[in-house]
Amino acid sequence: MDGNGRWAKKRHVPRAMGHREGGEAVRRTVKACRKLGVECLTLYAFSSENWKRDESEIGDLMNLMKRFIKSDLDDFIANGIKLKLIGDWHAFEPEIVAMLEDALERTQHGDQVLAVALNYGSQQEIARAAAKAAEQGDVTQDSIAANLDTADLPPLDLLIRTSGEVRLSNFLLWQAAYAEMIFMDVLWPDFEEEHLQAALEEFARRERRYGGR
Ligand code: IPE
Ligand code: MG
Repeated sequence: MDGNGRWAKKRHVPRAMGHREGGEAVRRTVKACRKLGVECLTLYAFSSENWKRDESEIGDLMNLMKRFIKSDLDDFIANGIKLKLIGDWHAFEPEIVAMLEDALERTQHGDQVLAVALNYGSQQEIARAAAKAAEQGDVTQDSIAANLDTADLPPLDLLIRTSGEVRLSNFLLWQAAYAEMIFMDVLWPDFEEEHLQAALEEFARRERRYGGR
């Protein structure tokens, strides 16, 4: 989800407003995924590198997250959303950690997975998984994969980055080995169901060979 800051800049409004509109795009996208039959949606909400931002912007993002959980959790439960978290989210402030734990528990019976990457960095995730695999005395491709935060998520099929940037920025590096990638020019707060639909259509036209021929 990229482009909140540029969306705000274009409108000469504070970055926080871009993030708030980004939250609206999250709501729309979660709904659209349910409607279009997407089994699992993973959102990159806060990266382990986002701590480099101003304290005030980090505060805005944390407040937004708290407000979002408060306002949308019941709706998520009612709509069969099952929350998953990837990344080192236990490093957030205790109040947020408690809210996230409560949300995990209360959404556990849902059937559509919404995975949120919080304080997530893929290289850190891989290093953690490799260390755990070593502890278990078995360092193989399978054992590392089994120790990734995404171990119980389905394989990554499609990765979409908004805002026109063409890089992965430490997101799902291992999981993206055979994912289809789509880079869209739309800024995240402007992301609508039609963009998702277009990306899914493009995905359906791609031929996936996984190294075969
Ligand atoms: C993405 O938008 C939101 C988060 C990182 C939480 P940005 O804040 O990165 O927006 P740009 O890249 O400045 O436009
Ligand atoms: Mg950005």
